[in-house]
Amino acid sequence: MSEHEIKILAIETSCDETAAAVVVNGRDVRSNVISSQIALHTLYGGVVPEIASRKHIEKINQVITQALDEAETTLDGIDAIGVTYGPGLVGALLVGVAEAKAIAYAKKIPLIGVHHIEGHICANYIENPKLQPPFLCLVVSGGHTHLVRVADYGSYEIIGRTRDDAAGEAFDKVARAIGLGYPGGPKIEQAARGGNLHAVEFPRAKMGDSPYDFSFSGLKSAVLNYLNGCRMKGQEIVQADIAASFQKAVTDVLIGNAVRALKDYKADTFAIAGGVASNAAFREGMRKACMDMGVAFYHPSPVFCTDNAAMIGVAAYHDYRSGRRDGLDLNAVPNLKLGDRQRNRLLV
Ligand code: KG4
Ligand code: ZN
Repeated sequence: MSEHEIKILAIETSCDETAAAVVVNGRDVRSNVISSQIALHTLYGGVVPEIASRKHIEKINQVITQALDEAETTLDGIDAIGVTYGPGLVGALLVGVAEAKAIAYAKKIPLIGVHHIEGHICANYIENPKLQPPFLCLVVSGGHTHLVRVADYGSYEIIGRTRDDAAGEAFDKVARAIGLGYPGGPKIEQAARGGNLHAVEFPRAKMGDSPYDFSFSGLKSAVLNYLNGCRMKGQEIVQADIAASFQKAVTDVLIGNAVRALKDYKADTFAIAGGVASNAAFREGMRKACMDMGVAFYHPSPVFCTDNAAMIGVAAYHDYRSGRRDGLDLNAVPNLKLGDRQRNRLLV
């Protein structure tokens, strides 16, 4: 082996997945262990923060051990620890941050705090060796809908964002309203397969003052109003048709804003990221739009779209290479903004 391998142990506990991964040189995922709490939170129709924190504490050591075993390494073979320190649920984030600090201290290895959304974007590097900045990326998750200009590794400019609900949040709320339950995204995608996308013409919100911004709360209200109307008129509620029409409305808006940004920025490369990026209808719509414009299109596999630690390991690797390190005073920052990365950070 000519070049030294940089092996990063990454930890992700920002919401309802306890995850650990070992990533070598920022692209080679040696293990990617995810312990999902979905079944537990389904009982309550959504994520209960206190339960999430408690479950992370129960699972974290087991998940890390498994990630090391599957990568055929031990803590002694690890060069640095990467951990999500925001945004997310504070109690959930703290479990990962405390664990990462303990390992960094005990093993005297560098600690690197990672922004969760930066991790989602970096998931694209795993299976796409040709992808490199600059490019535009649409991050669509349960908490965020951001159009981001990735100027360089670790350098991001948000050019559009949601004014209210995130796209994933809209999927979750509409799924609950039509009786599909939690988690909404995959259930709507499945139900939509048998439905008519033109059954109901739901609104597509446009922000006049900022063409790249999104709004999904009006769409959510329109679905609720439609459901109430059906109930009052004694009309049958066809889950599949509502799911398909809603999904089409969301994806039309996501794709429309992305196309506008690609044209305005004269970008030749586009990527998608986050839980909603695992939606096949959205992905295929976006692929076609990019093809029509001659834009190279990238997306992670579904397992790297939803929350995982491999993506955190990739982001941490680029920080490691640029010499950024965090001190043992690293704290969880629940409302961390993309671009706030210098906070808590020591340059060495
Ligand atoms: O990125 P992620 O795993 O967690 C956050 O950082 O929020 O995204 C979770 C979100 C949820 O709102 C979930 O409903 C949505 O992604 N999602 C989907 C699909 N799979 C997950 N939305 C649409 N279609 C899917 N197949
Ligand atoms: Zn996420």
